[in-house]
Amino acid sequence: MTETSLYDRIGGAPTIDALVDSFYARMDALAEARTIRAMHPQDLAPLGQVLKDYLSEWLGGPALFSPVRGHPRMRQRHMRVAIDSAARDAWLLCMRGALAETVADEAARAAIDDVMARLADWMRNVPDKEGPDQDPAETTISQN
Ligand code: HEM
Repeated sequence: MTETSLYDRIGGAPTIDALVDSFYARMDALAEARTIRAMHPQDLAPLGQVLKDYLSEWLGGPALFSPVRGHPRMRQRHMRVAIDSAARDAWLLCMRGALAETVADEAARAAIDDVMARLADWMRNVPDKEGPDQDPAETTISQN
């Protein structure tokens, strides 16, 4: 059985282009993404091209990233950026909106969502800030 790549299933380069453009447009526009937008350069276009090249390769299309930029090592490339759960969630919010807008094939979209969520989760590299809720283990249980 020949396996069709996710790249081919979603429509190849034109879909990747639309996906990444939509992703960065959301990062630019969404209030929830303000913190991660501020981590990125003012001009997102060059980074957009790098992400397109990466996703092309990662989803089984032409290898456009590693011949130019070397081994992906995505987690290592993100070490200078502080990524906690909130940053991960903001990133995924933009990506999920972009996927919904640009990838018509539902099964392919779900498959990409799944691997993307796992990669974004693995990218976390700082502990989360204290939330408003206290650790339940450190709270005295009231009896009345
Ligand atoms: C989890 C939250 C994430 C945050 C907050 C984040 C943020 C960033 C930032 C700030 C940059 C650097 C921009 C610069 O060059 O100054 C970057 C680069 C990049 N990110 Fe992410 N990122 C995240 C997850 C991901 C994921 C899951 C992927 C892949 C699916 C990805 C792919 C890339 C690529 C390809 C680059 C360019 C790397 C290079 O220059 O070689 N990022 N990201």
